[in-house]
Amino acid sequence: MAHPVLVVGMGGSLRTPSTSLAALRVAIEGAAAAGADTEVMSLSGLDLPFYTPEHGIPPAARFLADTIHGADALLWSSPTYHGSVSGAFKNAVDWLTILADRDPPYLSNKPVGMLTTAGGVQGLQAINSMDFIVRALRGWSVPLVIAVPRSTQVFDPDANLTDPSVAAQLRGLGAEVTRAALQFRAEGTCDYAEGQLHDGVLGGR
Ligand SMILES: Cc1cc2nc3c(=O)[nH]c(=O)nc-3n(C[C@H](O)[C@H](O)[C@H](O)COP(=O)(O)O)c2cc1C
Repeated sequence: MAHPVLVVGMGGSLRTPSTSLAALRVAIEGAAAAGADTEVMSLSGLDLPFYTPEHGIPPAARFLADTIHGADALLWSSPTYHGSVSGAFKNAVDWLTILADRDPPYLSNKPVGMLTTAGGVQGLQAINSMDFIVRALRGWSVPLVIAVPRSTQVFDPDANLTDPSVAAQLRGLGAEVTRAALQFRAEGTCDYAEGQLHDGVLGGR
């Protein structure tokens, strides 16, 4: 039997507890339930310095880049900050410039599922910002995205997710990213076939 795909989650805020990290963990549970090996990189745990090309590559940035390059698929989660991703999240992806010289470079051949938590009524601005970054880094944005608005109403003060329907959506994203990674392995693409567009995850929304 083929070895499982590896789905790596990256994100969360630098706040403790972090709803965007909690949401990422739920999505990762969905990937694991779909058969993937999984790993989560919390940005607060990584403690990355600001990106600069001038002082060599710090170990945390090397670890981030190597882990991401070794993944078959990614789940990205940022809080929505001022209509975009957080500065910490953008700094982490700026460090992925280390992957320019890899073969294949950057996020080539990797499906990326995107999610955000937002205090306000929507969070698609952060998702859209992530989408620009994924495509700039040659990754494949998974069409299903999950924005969790009004975060204080769906997470308790300890950042536990209290809404089962949101949990199901997040797990569904993890499963979809796993499916895309398996398709990429088998076919070299994760484009939807005609039947999947009507019957699959996109048809249901
Ligand atoms: C600097 C800052 C900017 C924010 N900007 C927005 C925003 O533009 N739209 C929004 O809906 N929520 C905004 N929020 C609220 C956060 O999106 C919300 O609290 C989120 O759930 C925090 O994620 P975390 O729990 O992972 O830290 C902002 C919060 C901060 C601290």
